[in-house]
Amino acid sequence: MTLALTPLHPLFAAEAGGVDLKKPLDAHAIGQIEAAMDRYALLVFRDQPLDQDEQVALARQFGPLDAGLRKATGAATRFAYEELIDISNLALDGSVASRDNAKLIGVLANQLWHSDSSFQNLPVKYSMLSAVAVPAEGGDTEWCDLRAAYDALPEATRRIVEGRTARHSAFHSRMLLGDDRYTDGQMQRFPPVERPLVGVHPGSKRKLLFVGVHCDRVSGMSVPEGRLLIAELLEHATRREFVYRHTWRPGDYVIWDNRSTLHRGRRYDLSMRRDLRRTTTLERHAAPAAVD
Ligand code: OGA
Ligand code: MN
Repeated sequence: MTLALTPLHPLFAAEAGGVDLKKPLDAHAIGQIEAAMDRYALLVFRDQPLDQDEQVALARQFGPLDAGLRKATGAATRFAYEELIDISNLALDGSVASRDNAKLIGVLANQLWHSDSSFQNLPVKYSMLSAVAVPAEGGDTEWCDLRAAYDALPEATRRIVEGRTARHSAFHSRMLLGDDRYTDGQMQRFPPVERPLVGVHPGSKRKLLFVGVHCDRVSGMSVPEGRLLIAELLEHATRREFVYRHTWRPGDYVIWDNRSTLHRGRRYDLSMRRDLRRTTTLERHAAPAAVD
């Protein structure tokens, strides 16, 4: 197999073809996809509709899977696998969820710039999203390249961020949206995590600026000073020239690297059906935490 790559943006993101994702991938194919991921950070595969079994089997070839925040909320799932993360506006019975359904807070929080599970003390690597149903209008997803963002950082700002860490908290984005229905037990299940603001992407060896909406503090700064810095860095990292915007078609399968990109969903009419299903992989050596 030869992976065919067509760039989708001047800095990162490519459309990938020449592979059938329903079939088990051999080591050579996995190596090609991982090498392309190191270069492009985001790959779009078109016309690859997958059922639940196929989606989970595909993702497992890239590393152990993590179930994300559901480990704290324990919310029921409409899927046969706990590692399938529901990025839809659908209720358990598959109908469009009513506006007061608690799961919609997750849909809305996904519309803030973030890296999946950066609030977990786990080596999160790729997320993979499979589109089953999409609204006729709205509901695009955007990604930005944190390596390009670092490269363009003014020297004075580099000096401020170098050597500092940001604190990533699981519930910060939800609290920003006014959702504070979390018990002490749920919050303790996800203690905040410190991560360097400047990292190095292992595959491309490029430096990157690691921010996102999960950040609520910066080391060595007061809370307000830290939050202002995070807002400034996020504004910088998400300048339009660093952003690729994807308009979904059913059957799209998108893989992105959570270590070198941020993403956000865009608004759509919540009464329209949008059914996307995600898996998130960890570095190969990691052992995933189970859903309680
Ligand atoms: C995700 C996510 C955004 C969207 O799947 O992790 O943030 O557009 N999705 O649904
Ligand atoms: Mn996400």
